Order: sequence, then structure tokens, then C-alpha cells
Amino acid sequence: MKIAPSILSADFADLATGVAAVEAAGADRLHIDVMDGHFVPNLTFGPDTVRALRPRTSLPLEVHLMADDPDRWIAGFADAGTDILLVHQEATAHLYGTLQTIAAHHVQAGVVLNPGTPLNTLDEVLPLVDQVLIMTVNPGFGGQHFLPAMTAKVAALAKTRTARGLNFAIEVDGGINDQTIGDVTAAGADIAVAGSYIFGGDPAQRLAKLEGRA
Ligand code: DX5
Ligand code: ZN
Repeated sequence: MKIAPSILSADFADLATGVAAVEAAGADRLHIDVMDGHFVPNLTFGPDTVRALRPRTSLPLEVHLMADDPDRWIAGFADAGTDILLVHQEATAHLYGTLQTIAAHHVQAGVVLNPGTPLNTLDEVLPLVDQVLIMTVNPGFGGQHFLPAMTAKVAALAKTRTARGLNFAIEVDGGINDQTIGDVTAAGADIAVAGSYIFGGDPAQRLAKLEGRA
């Protein structure tokens, strides 16, 4: 299992220190939760945060865009140094075109589903994506409880991927800790985002635990 630490739970006044800690500990990538105060009831980072972090780490930067009308942000995040841009299915009426635009900016494209959004809403776009992110909490805040019903959704997506001969990565986000990682791993997730668990203790120790190294 690859782990993507979410800086949403890092010290916002000292992001570089949090990033250095998870990079030294062997994180696979950095997960940056962008919230616009409309799509979700919280405000966080923008493209300039990505631009500032870019020279401070060699980890891939994965932006989870929780914003309405994602098209207006694609160029800005691409230009700032984003490696993987994840947009919500629920945030755009033109998902196919949005994913094409991300790819045209030479950024890996991913799509995110809220807990209540069915998998079949992605039927037509699965061949376009590098990654699918299944939310395992309602987006907006760190530190929430994992929704156990999402395990079956991950398993169903893994089955679809095999049946259709596709190779996008499957990621989960929300409530991931040492108690919940086993189920999503068994269900077929490749990458797990973790915020409050990683930054709520010793990041190196907790990362090792999630990766199954400790
Ligand atoms: C929620 C964010 C998550 C969040 C996960 O909207 O997408 O990435 O940071 O936090 P934890 O790991 O604390 O549930
Ligand atoms: Zn996220």
C-alpha cells in the first residue's frame, strides 16, 4: 500500500517541516486538500501553496480539488507544479472535458467520488483517468470516522478495473488509520490518504505501520 500523507493535518504555519518529516519517512506522494468554501464548507490552499512547496520536496504533489467549476483552476495548478490533479465528479457538468483538459496540461488526471455518488457515474470516463479516489468520509474536514460501507465500493471498482482491462490506480481518502487500512487494502486500494493519523503522532512510525512495515 502506498501512503499519501495529507498536509491538511500538518502545522499550516510550518508546512515545510511536516513535508520533510513524511518525505524522510518514505511517503509515496503528498496529498494537498484544496477547498473553496462552496463545494465543501472549508477553505484551505491555492495554487501558490503548491508553487511554494514544489522546490521544498521531491515527492509528487497530488492536489485533491474540492472546488466548484474545477476547469477554472486547472491551468493554475498545472503551472504551479502539480503532478496529479483530482477533480470531483459532483463538481462539474463536463467531467469528460475536464479530464481531457487536465491531460492536455501534462498533469496526471484523477476523478473523485463522494460517498453518496455511485460508481457507474464514471463508466464513460474510466479509460481517461490515471487514478480514481473513493472518499471514505464526506469531504471537508480531517479527523472524521471511516465509512465502512465504502469498502464494498472499492472492491466493486477493483472488479470493474479488471473486467475492463484498465490500469488506473485506486485511492481512498478519509478516516484511514491502523484499524481501517486492512479492509481497504484487502478490497483492492493501491494508495491511501492519511492526515490526522500520520500527523497526530510520530509520522515515521505511523507511516511504517500503514505501509505494513511495522
Ligand atoms: C477530507 C480530505 C482528506 C482528509 C483526510 O476532505 O479530503 O484528505 O485530510 O483526513 P483524515 O486522514 O484525518 O481523515
Ligand atoms: Zn483529500
